Amino acid sequence: MSIHSEVEREVLLRIKPKIEEYEKLLSVYKLIENTISEVLVEKGFKAEVALQGSVAHDTWLSGDRDLDVFVLFPGTWSREELESKGFPILLEAASRIGKWELRYAEHPYVHVKVGDVEVDIVPGLRLEDPSQAKTAVDRTPFHTLYVNSKLTSEMRDQVRLLKKFMKSIGVYGAEVRVRGFSGYAAELLIIVYGSFRSVLEAASEWKPPVFINTIGEKFTGNLAKRLREKYPDSVIFMPDPVDPLRNVTAAVSLRSLATLILASTCYLRNPGLEFFEELEEPRLVDLLEALKSRCIVILEYDLREKLAPDVIWGEALRVSSRLESLLRVLGFRVIDYSAWTNEADRVLISAELEYCELPLYKHYKGPCITHEWSRIVSFIEKHYGKGFGPWLTNEGCLESLDRRVEESIISILESRWSEFTVSPHLRNVKPTITFLSEDLVKKLLEEGAGKWLWNILVKTPRWMAKCTS
Ligand code: CTP
Ligand code: MN
Repeated sequence: MSIHSEVEREVLLRIKPKIEEYEKLLSVYKLIENTISEVLVEKGFKAEVALQGSVAHDTWLSGDRDLDVFVLFPGTWSREELESKGFPILLEAASRIGKWELRYAEHPYVHVKVGDVEVDIVPGLRLEDPSQAKTAVDRTPFHTLYVNSKLTSEMRDQVRLLKKFMKSIGVYGAEVRVRGFSGYAAELLIIVYGSFRSVLEAASEWKPPVFINTIGEKFTGNLAKRLREKYPDSVIFMPDPVDPLRNVTAAVSLRSLATLILASTCYLRNPGLEFFEELEEPRLVDLLEALKSRCIVILEYDLREKLAPDVIWGEALRVSSRLESLLRVLGFRVIDYSAWTNEADRVLISAELEYCELPLYKHYKGPCITHEWSRIVSFIEKHYGKGFGPWLTNEGCLESLDRRVEESIISILESRWSEFTVSPHLRNVKPTITFLSEDLVKKLLEEGAGKWLWNILVKTPRWMAKCTS
């Protein structure tokens, strides 16, 4: 057997759910279904309860404890009716089952915990045709029909391998935190290419923008053009077979795509279990070792209100990229920047710089002799007496070397925090700004930011070792 097959066989032993796991999830599902049906009868409504997502597709991973349950009300109902009549039924059922919570994605749904199983109960409409879909939720039942009509049981295991591979390299999930591939995208890739290894072979040849033909002869140049217009920021396009004008991989970032392309190439040349193992909680000593002689600035924001994870991640990422632009404009060399949130009340931003101090003098390039007089005069007035210069270069242009006002990066950022803290829910929160110190590493490790610190400090993923020949 080839090394690839051996690795994949070993991984499958770990990730294929055990019989007891199936039994447990199905018994929880039965409980949910019965309770919802009971409430429907009491209230005199008709609706269809259906299991969806990866458990219905049999593409879930051992250890997962998530159920996606949909309650489909008559397709003739409006969105308002769904909220005013349908939603109370779900709430009533959830309160009879266990500890529940109202959640929002694109669309409100109820989350209930039954033992250690996490259940999302999502209200939807029973549509005849997926083209009537108004939200991603409406397409879900059609995805289940499609996936189950295409996947054989061998292919379901191939989906599991692909999902585990994507998880381990950090590109699994369409949420803002990851900006990667959804479970449905992984399933479609297996449907198109047939096996885990064939997907990787294809991916190793991808050059963005990537187009994947998920719809056979219905895929035309015109469709590709329309998708590009509808999703101008996408780097990979996969038409949804149940609704071809929707791009299943709209959320995938260039970084996630590049990660998949590189990891695929490395795995094919040099397979190993590293590609299927997720990052462990790092050890403090390893973090502290990597911290030596680095210049990393950390901003800590305390949030006052509860927000959806996608909203917090989106704002955190936006602030981090604004911070990077400001630092660059100020003359710092920014090596790397990133953001993290505990998805409750904390947002952390990091920026790593080549040097913490700026040089004592700053070099300015001004207008040339052919430019307008007013610009020339104002350059001279602005820079004269500030240091050395202005002077004229061989090209006939003005330059100056001015002494900077000495100020630490921390105090610069403290006085200009509102310039980069631009997102709606962080705007009024003044961050605490410090250098990443040993004490701060300890504190952040304790509050659950260990993996984030590892990515800031160590940077290279474990599988990268397999990319060297
Ligand atoms: N869905 C989608 N697009 C997304 C997220 C979800 O179309 N970005 C739909 C899909 O039909 C999917 C269902 O919602 O089958 C359930 O979503 P989710 O639980 O996120 O994914 P699963 O496919 O169940 O995968 P996992 O094993 O990660 O739960
Ligand atoms: Mn799911």
